[in-house]
Amino acid sequence: MAADPRVTKYVGDGGVWDQATIEEKTQQALRGTPLNEPGAARWFVAHRIDQPMGVFVYTRQESGVEIGYWVPPEYWTQGIAGAMIDAGLEMIPRLFTTDTLIAHVDPANAASGRVLIRRGLHLAGRENGLDRYDWQESPFAGCS
Ligand SMILES: CC(C)(COP(=O)(O)OP(=O)(O)OC[C@H]1O[C@@H](n2cnc3c(N)ncnc32)[C@H](O)[C@@H]1OP(=O)(O)O)[C@@H](O)C(=O)NCCC(=O)NCCS
Repeated sequence: MAADPRVTKYVGDGGVWDQATIEEKTQQALRGTPLNEPGAARWFVAHRIDQPMGVFVYTRQESGVEIGYWVPPEYWTQGIAGAMIDAGLEMIPRLFTTDTLIAHVDPANAASGRVLIRRGLHLAGRENGLDRYDWQESPFAGCS
């Protein structure tokens, strides 16, 4: 996906990743940096039956855990990103012991903004030209 311009259009500088960048980012994710250290990243692959359908990335930042998500274009608008975010909202607070999730989205990336709003994240402002979305776990989560 990182070599597909349709996928990288709103990611980073908008260009496709070369092989060295793909390897560097992959190694960073596989390094297993302890989850409480800034920059610690984990990647998850979503499957439908046994077919990989998307990648979900978590990275610890100072102000919370940043989420990122990529779906191959042939599977867009089938609810896959939404399903990955649903799973992430369940898992990340426990895995990273945080109650704050953030996402940075190019304002032109309408599908990405839409999927976050539908999952209950809210637009908190703009940082370095990107929309920042926030989500905080309810203090009542888990109570019956
Ligand atoms: C953004 C992305 C992950 C969305 O994946 P997806 O599996 O298609 O997302 P979903 O199907 O769960 O939901 C997409 C929502 O956006 C809507 N949408 C799709 N294209 C849209 C567009 N051009 N304008 C407005 N809304 C759009 C869909 O209707 C859907 O909303 P709905 O649930 O209310 O019907 C996918 O387009 C992608 O991988 N893009 C390239 C990588 C990327 O930009 N990642 C995000 C970086 S912040």
